[in-house]
Amino acid sequence: MAMQIEFKSVSADYQLGPIKSKNVLKDVNLKIKTNRVTVIIGKTGSGKSTLLKLMNGLILPTSGEVKIDEHVIHSKVNKQTLKNIRADLGMVFQFPEAQLFAETVLDDIMFGPLNFGDTQESAKEKAKEVITQVGLSESIFTKSPLELSGGQKRRVAIAGVLATHPKSLILDEPGAGLDPSSKKKILDFLKSWQIRKNATMVMVTHDIEEVVNYADDLIVMKNGEIIFHDSVYSILSNLSPDNQWGIALPEARLLQLELEKKLGFKFDKICLTANQLAEQIERKGLA
Ligand SMILES: Nc1ncnc2c1ncn2[C@@H]1O[C@H](COP(=O)(O)OP(=O)(O)O)[C@@H](O)[C@H]1O
Ligand SMILES: [Mg+2]
Repeated sequence: MAMQIEFKSVSADYQLGPIKSKNVLKDVNLKIKTNRVTVIIGKTGSGKSTLLKLMNGLILPTSGEVKIDEHVIHSKVNKQTLKNIRADLGMVFQFPEAQLFAETVLDDIMFGPLNFGDTQESAKEKAKEVITQVGLSESIFTKSPLELSGGQKRRVAIAGVLATHPKSLILDEPGAGLDPSSKKKILDFLKSWQIRKNATMVMVTHDIEEVVNYADDLIVMKNGEIIFHDSVYSILSNLSPDNQWGIALPEARLLQLELEKKLGFKFDKICLTANQLAEQIERKGLA
């Protein structure tokens, strides 16, 4: 379901914890497109996780406001508003498996729905539904989360969030630290979940290949500011490999530039994925 996420002149910092960081986000204005996948990239410390945490009120703006549908998060927002937002906007933290705590996989997945007021029966139904969505089977329900592989733990943790039936999803590096095949499985099911639900999905990543394969829109952050926000294609197709922002280009684009240099012509279309490049090569009669 469509959810509108909007930032109006949002600034944020960390003043309460043991480490104080000033001016972490500086006057950010942002409107995320609904029913799409938006990916956030930027160097470590640029403010990506902070941007996500502001969306579900884990940290509050020092000034400005974050609007989630009709709800408004500002420096003095009340608890009920945050609860309402979190019921609709599922958040998957970085390394979410670190928060698996129940004795069995089933109990862990049921925790979210129960916490939002579901009956045991309904929570169990939701657990059954999501476990197959994440590509696992019910036979895993009786296991302890400790017995699972890294990729399975990650999937169970994400299943726990999906079981609360969020309207939209925000995820902090959902593929981080996993082998390529587990990472692909997770991103594939997230993408199919997003399409099926027609949901708004916002995801942080470090991997430009994930951006071109899964995202519609791209946000690039630098030092607490958004320096680019547009479709993936508009942003990346205009960048050279040695661009001043240090944004990596996908392998397919690098190969295309290399081919153009070696063969002395230009392709008709800029390619960001292997599929797009294969098609262009075929058209040129090179294959
Ligand atoms: N809990 C915290 N306490 C103090 N400073 C923090 C905290 N979390 C992040 N920061 C600081 O805020 C800035 C942005 O961090 P973050 O949003 O985590 O960046 P990213 O996710 O892009 O790596 C960094 O300078 C970081 O050191
Ligand atoms: Mg981060």
